Amino acid sequence: MARRKVAAGNWKMNKTPSEAVKLCAELKDLVASDSVDVIYCVPAIDIVPVVDAVKGTNVKVGAENMYIEDSGAYTGEISADMILDAGAEYVIIGHSERREYFCEDDDFLNKKVKKALEKGLKPILCCGETLEQREKGVTLDWINLQIKSDLQGVSASDVAGMIIAYEPIWAIGTGKTATTEQAQEVCGAIRKTIAAVYDQATADSVRILYGGSVKGSNAKELFSQPDIDGGLVGGASLKPEFGDIVNYDK
Ligand code: PGA
Repeated sequence: MARRKVAAGNWKMNKTPSEAVKLCAELKDLVASDSVDVIYCVPAIDIVPVVDAVKGTNVKVGAENMYIEDSGAYTGEISADMILDAGAEYVIIGHSERREYFCEDDDFLNKKVKKALEKGLKPILCCGETLEQREKGVTLDWINLQIKSDLQGVSASDVAGMIIAYEPIWAIGTGKTATTEQAQEVCGAIRKTIAAVYDQATADSVRILYGGSVKGSNAKELFSQPDIDGGLVGGASLKPEFGDIVNYDK
């Protein structure tokens, strides 16, 4: 069965609740699609208003982060249950900004992936190399290590339903997109790793996105690659251009 494409927006720390509602209204008709899964991953405080604003449309909502415990004395954190009860279905885990600025390591991210899955929240697990790693030629080794560590102890059926996003750090927010060949090479390697660790059916089912300066103008070429099942989009997800990314094949 062919994998459904995904256009996931990562709003990062942008949009107040009232701005978020306005953006949803602005994008509503532009992102309508019956062939692509459209997801808005939004700041925690925007989840409730955005879930409400996209009611009755094709848009699904995700969080950008979550904590590994169910509840308790973790000031400032949000739990999987809170995200689910607010009406979101997805959660980004291990974005490079979380890894870098908030020191989230693979051990911790593995716990997050497991907690999200245990609760029925769908993880969008991110991985990606630095420019230095790419120049040293260790990209594939690094990505394999991240994927294997972050999925340690996760079942094949859970991985089959997951989304993994390959985001080269040097391409995020820089306007410098990876070439189609570079993006396909790494996404293909991730699928091979999943096949080796699990089995071919799991590898054929997991959806692997490319992220890093995805635009209306490059989405079609990227998303047409055999192992690229769509994009995780930062900057362009906050603009009408996101509609061109969703409707890349029109
Ligand atoms: P960008 O961000 O599209 O602005 O490069 C992508 C991301 O960080 O998910």
